[in-house]
Amino acid sequence: MKSELILETKNITKDFPGVRALDKVSFQLRKGEVLGMVGENGAGKSTLMKILSGAYSFHNYEGEIFLEGEQCNFSGPKDSQAAGIAIIYQELNLIPELTVAENIFLGREPLIGKSGIINQKELFCRTENLLKLLNIPASAHEQIKNLSIGKQQMVEIAKALSYQAKILILDEPTSALTEQEVKSLFKMINSLQERDVSMVYISHKLDEVFEITDRVTVLRDGKVIDTQPTTQLTHQKLVALMVGRDIKDMYPKGAAQVGEVALEVKNFFVDHPFLFGEKVVKNINFKVRKGEILGIAGLMGSGRSELVSAIFGAFPADSAGEIYIEGKEIKINSPYQAINYGLALVTEDRKLFGLVLSMQVGENITLSSLEKLSWYQIIKKRQENKTIKQYIQSLRIKTPAFEAVVNTLSGGNQQKVVIAKWLATNPKVLLLDEPTRGVDVAAKVEIYQLMNELTKEGVAVVMISSDLPEVLSMSDRILVMHEGQIAKEFIGSQATQEKIMFYATGGR
Ligand SMILES: Nc1ncnc2c1ncn2[C@@H]1O[C@H](COP(=O)(O)OP(=O)(O)OP(=O)(O)O)[C@@H](O)[C@H]1O
Ligand SMILES: [Mg+2]
Repeated sequence: MKSELILETKNITKDFPGVRALDKVSFQLRKGEVLGMVGENGAGKSTLMKILSGAYSFHNYEGEIFLEGEQCNFSGPKDSQAAGIAIIYQELNLIPELTVAENIFLGREPLIGKSGIINQKELFCRTENLLKLLNIPASAHEQIKNLSIGKQQMVEIAKALSYQAKILILDEPTSALTEQEVKSLFKMINSLQERDVSMVYISHKLDEVFEITDRVTVLRDGKVIDTQPTTQLTHQKLVALMVGRDIKDMYPKGAAQVGEVALEVKNFFVDHPFLFGEKVVKNINFKVRKGEILGIAGLMGSGRSELVSAIFGAFPADSAGEIYIEGKEIKINSPYQAINYGLALVTEDRKLFGLVLSMQVGENITLSSLEKLSWYQIIKKRQENKTIKQYIQSLRIKTPAFEAVVNTLSGGNQQKVVIAKWLATNPKVLLLDEPTRGVDVAAKVEIYQLMNELTKEGVAVVMISSDLPEVLSMSDRILVMHEGQIAKEFIGSQATQEKIMFYATGGR
């Protein structure tokens, strides 16, 4: 076991208006280790990493950072980069229109002599070498926008390492990766470890934390609760450290009365966004009943998100088929119409469709239900505030005030705001696309309980999820999608992870 320290913080305290995000945080990172950093949404993980990466300069926090025994004061990201610290953020930061090579060497391209002209040959050659070294299956000439999210992330890592990083921070790196991509990422992490790169690995996926880390540090409410070697922890013990209490039942599936058909979709097709004549959703037929939770499993790219987005009216020109609400055929040509018919969609990408990041928490929550809360265009302020308060409490959204800008909330708490926004519309049919991605364990249980309450009230729920234990435990029925089609339907109790994966990967 290696024990040589590379990085250490002492008593780091960071305040934001109304919140102490970090409270005397001291932790240690050893040379060549993967240190897991876990904690509930808003615990302070990302803030701590932003301090290490220089995103918050040393004027803006208290406490000290030591790198190989020397105290450092970073004034900006450049300082931290020069000291050998690289960070891969929760949201990727590449420029889609540029090539892999241009992204990696952005702002420090090799030049021809002193001419100021970029030495293209050298640029691409260096990039190819880097990609080869890291076993990244992409070409230096490829535009970023043509790469899968998994490959984009590897390019980010390549970029980070091209600065000779000794420390690599990964903040929820796998939230948008396929299982295959996660495997390649872990391979890469292992080979970096052999080269003595030290890593901090932040994740809400505890299985991954157990697989890839050597030790785990737990943060709660901005404080370090404990650090343990991974082998000495169990799943339950780790959860208890994170949330400060035991969670007995991760998946509290309630028994609701299943009623009439709430939503039926017939002969549904969605066109491929780029490839003319191709379909991403092919002849889908399904029903979901009041009080029922219908799970939709499948691999990334199997057409699940396109299906629910199209039902919700996101691409009226590129989808075709019949939609029935409570037995009546309707036409949905826009999300606005969908909302009026009683549909709600919690999307997987909260940045694109879910939230207006520059608006306040409260404004976001009531964004889609203003009509209900208005009377001749006048928003009933008291009613609105009541609604906001109700959701902040029931979902335990960690925010200093209604007026806080959504942007300043932690990733998981932003996701809760998206859910609140759609629940506030009182939907008949709730479409959930990866609702618990990036959400901590305790909040997951809260979301499941909320799903139970809604089904008890007769709401029909359609839940897309790549989290198999979640689909298996929470669904009454499960559809497995493969290449745009329904490959298999299970009654919830008859499915297993193996059976779902068999059909999701094209088995017959
Ligand atoms: N720029 C900011 N302005 C105001 N408050 C902030 C800002 N950034 C973070 N906070 C607050 O600091 C606390 C810690 O947030 P942080 O993003 O570090 O949490 P996290 O542990 O990364 O959570 P998650 O698991 O949800 O990503 C939260 O209460 C958050 O609202
Ligand atoms: Mg975070």
